Amino acid sequence: MYDYDLLIVGSANADLVIGVERRPGAGETVLGSDLAVHPGGKGANQAVAAARLGARTALLARVGDDAHGRLLLDSQREAGVDTAGVLVGGAPTGVALITVDPSGDNSIVVSPGANGRLTPADVRAAGSIFHSARVVSTQLEIPLETVAEVARTLAPGSRLVLNPSPPQPLPSEVLAACDPLILNEHEAKVILGEARVGEEPEDWARLLLAKGPRSVVVTLGGEGSLVASSDGVARIPSVPVRAVDTTGAGDSFTAALAWRLGLGDSLADAASYAARVGAVTVTKEGAQVSFPTAEEVAAL
Ligand code: RIB
Repeated sequence: MYDYDLLIVGSANADLVIGVERRPGAGETVLGSDLAVHPGGKGANQAVAAARLGARTALLARVGDDAHGRLLLDSQREAGVDTAGVLVGGAPTGVALITVDPSGDNSIVVSPGANGRLTPADVRAAGSIFHSARVVSTQLEIPLETVAEVARTLAPGSRLVLNPSPPQPLPSEVLAACDPLILNEHEAKVILGEARVGEEPEDWARLLLAKGPRSVVVTLGGEGSLVASSDGVARIPSVPVRAVDTTGAGDSFTAALAWRLGLGDSLADAASYAARVGAVTVTKEGAQVSFPTAEEVAAL
């Protein structure tokens, strides 16, 4: 009935990555590794992650008419993503400046470029793809007004997954459409406001649910994740691995969870599978280049 298991509406960035012993403080210069340029961006990452697992995936995004844009389109096509919805031009391709430290943790600054030009009108013009998708997943590296239009354009019976990253307060119409809202501790604190900082993650999950989403997933790094819905709150354990680079792990987790929900998994089962996908991702450098196939996940 649906042509696509998953439609991703989101960003596409060229990731400019440098390994560092430690990040510089204000006014400080440090030397790092050779520069690596990888295809990235939270939307493009989710699309590649889902397609590599076997999901029939389409991407709605905007890139520049430049070398970075071609790098991103090549990566999507190689993974098997339908790129008919990728618009080209209007601004240079988005760029992410990324440092990765020896523990695998990263810091990222994004220049949105063409991502900032993905408009509500672009979403409306792509309306037919929305009717072909079982699940739609989006993030906040595109304008919030575009994300709100995605929530309005959902076809009856399809499901919206939102990772509010980078975080900002969300309008109630967007929150109400999320099933689930997927976020880490930092993002949860921004959505809830600093008043909640002292409370336990289980409390955050309940408070987030009270803001309107039908379900919530809070990722807790090495502590696993929490899934929350009208059925209650449950903890999903992490899969222990040695992390080399955590870049893109949240994106592959979200893509895997969204795909499995569309296949009919419960929220807890989908989050358990997604934890395995995220675990494989952190064992390799880069974002899209590190995403596993379903066979690699099964072998973990
Ligand atoms: O989530 C990881 C991604 O965040 C990177 O690929 C980078 O492009 C930024 O968007």
